[in-house]
This record gives sequence, C-alpha cells and structure tokens, in this order.
Amino acid sequence: MEKIIVTAALPYSYSIPHLGNFVGSVLPADVYYKYLRMKGADAIFICGSDQHGTSGELKAMKEGKDPEELSNEMHAKLKKLFDSYECSFTFYGKTHTPENRDTVYEFFNSLNKNGYIGETESEMPYCNVDNMILADSFIEGTCPFCSYTKAKGNQCENCGRLLDPAQLVEPRCTICHKYDITFKKVKNLALLLDKLQDEIERFIKERSKNHWSKSAKNKALSYIKEGLKPRDITRKTRWGFPVPLKGFEDTKLYVWFDAPIGYIGITKEWDNNRWREYWLGKDTKLIQFMGKDNIEFHALVWPGMLIGSALGFPLPYTIKASEYLLDHGLKFSKSSATGLDMQAALGILEPDYWRFALISLYPETADTEFSTETMFSIVNGVMNDNIGNFVNRALSMAKRDAPRRQLRIAIEDGYRKEAENIIKEYISNFESLNLREAMRCVVALSTLGNSIIGNKQPWLLSKKAGSDADAAEELNRVLGTVVCLVYKVGILIWPFAPGASGKILSYFKVNSEPRMDMLDQEPKLDTSKEVKPIFTKLPESFAEHITKG
Ligand code: MF3
Ligand code: ZN
Repeated sequence: MEKIIVTAALPYSYSIPHLGNFVGSVLPADVYYKYLRMKGADAIFICGSDQHGTSGELKAMKEGKDPEELSNEMHAKLKKLFDSYECSFTFYGKTHTPENRDTVYEFFNSLNKNGYIGETESEMPYCNVDNMILADSFIEGTCPFCSYTKAKGNQCENCGRLLDPAQLVEPRCTICHKYDITFKKVKNLALLLDKLQDEIERFIKERSKNHWSKSAKNKALSYIKEGLKPRDITRKTRWGFPVPLKGFEDTKLYVWFDAPIGYIGITKEWDNNRWREYWLGKDTKLIQFMGKDNIEFHALVWPGMLIGSALGFPLPYTIKASEYLLDHGLKFSKSSATGLDMQAALGILEPDYWRFALISLYPETADTEFSTETMFSIVNGVMNDNIGNFVNRALSMAKRDAPRRQLRIAIEDGYRKEAENIIKEYISNFESLNLREAMRCVVALSTLGNSIIGNKQPWLLSKKAGSDADAAEELNRVLGTVVCLVYKVGILIWPFAPGASGKILSYFKVNSEPRMDMLDQEPKLDTSKEVKPIFTKLPESFAEHITKG
C-alpha cells in the first residue's frame, strides 16, 4: 500500500512562531494530514523544532544561556503550543538528537564519498570588536535585491533571496551593533550543486506536475536557469553538529544542512524501526509544506542532498509553498494579527477560530491581506451565522420534535445529488491540496442546510403535523435531511475546526476521530443532550486585543 509522509517546515526553536508562520506550514500540513487520516491513508505527519543556527546561538549569547538548553526549553513550549492548537503530528521531535546526528553524518559521508562535497575559500565578515567570524544572524545589513534593512548574512526574510554576507549593503555586527567589520579568508565545505544541476532540473520538471505551488515550480526553475552554484554547508560557529572531517575541527554543519535531514532524524526519534517503512518504502510519497522563503532549500538543495547521497530516500513528491499573509502590506508587523505570536493568539480566541479563519485566508496562490474586518466577517458571518446557526437550528428542531417519532436521518432524494456533489468536490479539492476550496465545500453544505430550513419552514410543518399526515411526513423528511447534513458537516469540518467537529459529533454519540466512511452510515441522534452553540461571535473588543497582543 502507498505510504505518505507529510512534513511541515521545522519551526526554529528560538522564538514562538507567529500566526503568519503557522498558516504557512504547520497548519495547512495538519489540515491535509487530518484529511488523509479521515480517508484511512497510511500516512505519518512529521515535524519538530529546528534547533541549530545562529539566531538561536545569538539569542542564547544575549541571555547568557547555553544554546542547547535554550532550544530545549523552547522546544518543550512549542510542542505544548501545537498540542493546544490540536495538531495531529505523528511525532513532533527536534533536530539536536543522536538519531538526527547519525543520519546527518550518513548524508555527509555519502555525499563526500560520491564527490559532491568540496572545499571553498571565501571572504567572511569578522567583527573587530567581538573578535569572531560573523555568519548568518550575527550580521545584518541592507538587502541588495529589495532594500530591506534587516537582511541577514544568509537570507533576506523580506524577499526570501538567499544571500552571501559580502552582498549585504552596510553590514553591521548584531552582537555589538558596530560597523567595525573586516573580511577574512575562511575555509568551508560546500555542496557541489553545480554537479547535480541536470538531475535536479529533471526532478523539478517531473515532480512539479504533482500539485506543486506555482511559486515553488517557478522559483525552482528560475534558479535552475541561473545555474546552480556550490553552496556552503559549514559555518564557523559554536552551536551545531561538528563537521566530521579532519581540518574542520572549529567548524559546524550549517543549520540548513541538518534541518531537512531532520525530517528523517525525527521519524527515527519517533520509532527506530518503523521509520524504515516510510522513508525506505517502495511506494512513498513525500508531501512537504512550507512558506515561500523555504522553496530554494526544499526544491533545490534538499533534493540535491537526496540525489547526491544516493541513500535511497524518496525525493519530494509535492512541494506546497504558501505565500505570505500580510497586514497592511507588512509581513512581520508587531502591531498586527499576523505578527501576533501563537501563544498570545490563544489568549484571545480558541484554536478552532484561528485554524478556521487562517485556512480561509490561506495564502495559497498570492500574498493575502489579513485584517480585523476579515476576521469579523469569517468568524461572525461564516462560522457563527452560517455554520453555527445551521447546526443549532437543525439540532434544536429535531430535539423539539423528538417525542413525536423516531427520526430517519438521511438526505431526501431532492437534495441528495447536491450534497453528494459538494462532498465530491471536497474530496477532489483535498486530493489536489486546495485546502481553502475544500473548506468552502464544508460551508457550502451548511449553506445548503440553511436554505432547506428557509424554504421548508419546518416550524410551520410542525404546527400542522398533528392533524395533517402529509405535513408530518414532510416534516420528517426535512428534519432527517438537515440533521443528516449537520452530521456530515461535523465529519468534514474536522481538519479545519476539530473542536467544533467533536462538539457536533457528540450529538451523534461519536467520540472517536471521524472517518470518511462514516459519511455513509446512518447516524443516531442523541436528543437528550442540551443543544449549545458551536461557535460564538467575536467580542467587540477583538480589534483591541489583537493590536495589543
Ligand atoms: N526553520 C526553518 C524556517 O523556519 C525551516 C526549516 S525546514 C527544514 O524557515 F527543512 F529545514 F527542516
Ligand atoms: Zn560585533
């Protein structure tokens, strides 16, 4: 049977991710993985904390802590946080583990043996105040491509371009904030991507047919067109896995070398035997979710590592990269909801609201504007007024009518086709990873339910039902139909709003995780249960809350 590995880009363990990060990778990956579970696929969902790198090292330095200790503390927080958001990881691990280190060395040694690692000499910035080489986050300057003033030595987080520290305009040290920098010759090791260009190109051309984001495909092809160059995989830093080679004792492996291997390392950390079933299976699909600033690594470097090491691991099948969620045009704004960190967000609204609202804004194809107005229209208009009201009205009417007879919960002929088509669309959207559209199908089912209630006016039928057998019959069919739609909404909403799903399904005495095959079973309604609202409207103070967050 086909196996699927779903991954979400590993969040760095030196800060709490903000909602913009969450919607970019872990949330859509989780939504998709939940769908796979519902349909009974043999899939695992792997994620974890990306512990190495100079950002964490810098932060630890400033707090007077050990980077390992700091990242382990943060890792524990992240794990709990994702749990609160009801993420269904098979395993949420981390990269600084013996399992990952061994895997990283296996990659390194194979790449080296196969001739894909070479020595480079480059000019690296050196701070004359702190007396150290300034890699990545230790140096900051203006991006030569987009003029963002806080670009780092390895990447501009505004335009996403990967950088060489020498390209930064007006570079300064982030430890002492001085411009007292000279360049020194430094020996590093590089992955010789130029030697893998043809194979990587073939990989992109073949695999990008499999529901890749347009941006992933286009960016990857444009880098190929520019021609791939060797890329440094080591750094003169203190924190990271030591380079297992003589002459490089003062050098560590670059975080972006060990992090993607972390997908495998974390799977080993999960289960030291079963990881093989997935990573070495004959028929495995690797589906990877990330923000667009991660495309270059996942579509070029990581496949290069996989091809060059020839260890038999699968190449990515789908690369699903999201665009940015913007707030007034800014990606990282402290005074905005997208800049709101996941912890602070939980203090404002329950996870269901964030999950649902963020996926309905999921920047699948273009940067998307996030605002308090859109939050009001999604939560109040869609979640509360459409879905919440429908569930509430249908269940209340069924409860009121319950003493009269046993309800047959099924969709009547006149509506069956329409409901079936919506569900088919839900499935086909999920199969092509159009998560926002899949969510719209859940809303469409509830809209259908609302319109049936509006057209049939069951409360009028109910008045007549005592004396009019036809009215009683019709009332039966209408209630059976809408209650059945509620049940289906309860199943299909699970990937997006697991809390609401659980509440809805509890009226049908379902306490287990929903499955697609439950859609075809006739449910039993528990009419003894008090009907309570599934969602509520946003408090008026919401706008204030998120700007304070
Ligand atoms: N930590 C990186 C980021 O947040 C993502 C690492 S993804 C992996 O941008 F593939 F390297 F694991
Ligand atoms: Zn300095």
